[in-house]
Amino acid sequence: MNVHGKPYRTIWISPQDSRVVQIIDQRVLPYQFVILDLTTVDDVAHAIKDMTVRGAGLIGATAGYGMYIAALHAPRHSRDAFLEALRADGEKLKITRPTAVNLAWAVERQLAAIATGSDVEDMIDTALRTANEIADEDAEFCRRIGEHGLALIEDISRRKPGEPVNILTHCNAGWLAFVDYGSATAPIYAAHNQGIDVHVWVDETRPRNQGARLTAWELGQHGVPHTVIADNAGGHLMQHGLVDLVIVGSDRTTYTGDVANKIGTYLKALAARDNHIPFYAALPSSTIDWQMRDGVAEIPIEERDAAEVSQIAGLHNGEIFTVQLTPEDSAAANYGFDVTPARLVTGIITERGICEASETGVLSLYPEKKSAP
Ligand code: MRU
Repeated sequence: MNVHGKPYRTIWISPQDSRVVQIIDQRVLPYQFVILDLTTVDDVAHAIKDMTVRGAGLIGATAGYGMYIAALHAPRHSRDAFLEALRADGEKLKITRPTAVNLAWAVERQLAAIATGSDVEDMIDTALRTANEIADEDAEFCRRIGEHGLALIEDISRRKPGEPVNILTHCNAGWLAFVDYGSATAPIYAAHNQGIDVHVWVDETRPRNQGARLTAWELGQHGVPHTVIADNAGGHLMQHGLVDLVIVGSDRTTYTGDVANKIGTYLKALAARDNHIPFYAALPSSTIDWQMRDGVAEIPIEERDAAEVSQIAGLHNGEIFTVQLTPEDSAAANYGFDVTPARLVTGIITERGICEASETGVLSLYPEKKSAP
């Protein structure tokens, strides 16, 4: 997508040095646009853990490039030592963030691909090729999600000629959360590009404000009309006919259709159900967990530093400041995600099409997974 009119992805190999991976520092958006270099596995682990990069698809792509960096630095004296070092680095990356399943998926995909290499040089080449494949596939799958989701928006637009289609989204499942296009935003960009009048309600998404900072910024860069709202406003807007459709992303979706997404998503789904508003989750298949049946019981929910709740950052006189929000001695808790049960999800938009949020629905799009549990 474009930043100040110039096309960017969220991660790429440096054109100057193929041993360096470059990313956009999402901690300082929208105030500053900063590009950072990653050259070691520790750089990659920190970038994922401290959310310099974030969002399920991008976390997966970053882990893919992280395994390439691991291959560049692994001992070369024996094949076993090389692969052993890669496995250890893979474990280091996997524990950085627990909820997004794309992370483990990308590490495992890399380990399986690298092991097919004939010698160390070939294994390093394979790691780079696979990292690029993971990134390209993520972008392409999101593009296709846009094509499939567009039909939903077109349908609503036809039913209310001359009026905007109002779409509510939570957190940032935009291109910043992937390699390009985004999942929840891809249908929105596709509709906007087709000249359909769309307007997006952007949940601010406390505590880290990915909606207010990131989704609002990227929609603005693309010229999509949007309004940032407090997280608690959605129910009121839905009661008053101001929301036609909810589209969210997902960090992990069970093959039975339970959707883990940023904390607060479940409450939007409840409000949508009460107001008969369609609620869709948009996600590439790399986000589907083919092992887990019961999302509420089984999906690990990341708990982050309570300071993300008790403090808040923003821009003042051109500088980013963090200020204390709560009484110093009040405890704070920071649950990162919640799980929306399949029964509240109208449908899942994937790169292969739209399906019912159920085991039958998901497997109808991915019949090759039918042997999974
Ligand atoms: O904690 P984050 O920012 O990595 O969380 C991810 C998200 O932005 C959302 O949960 C998103 O809607 C799904 S990830 C594409």
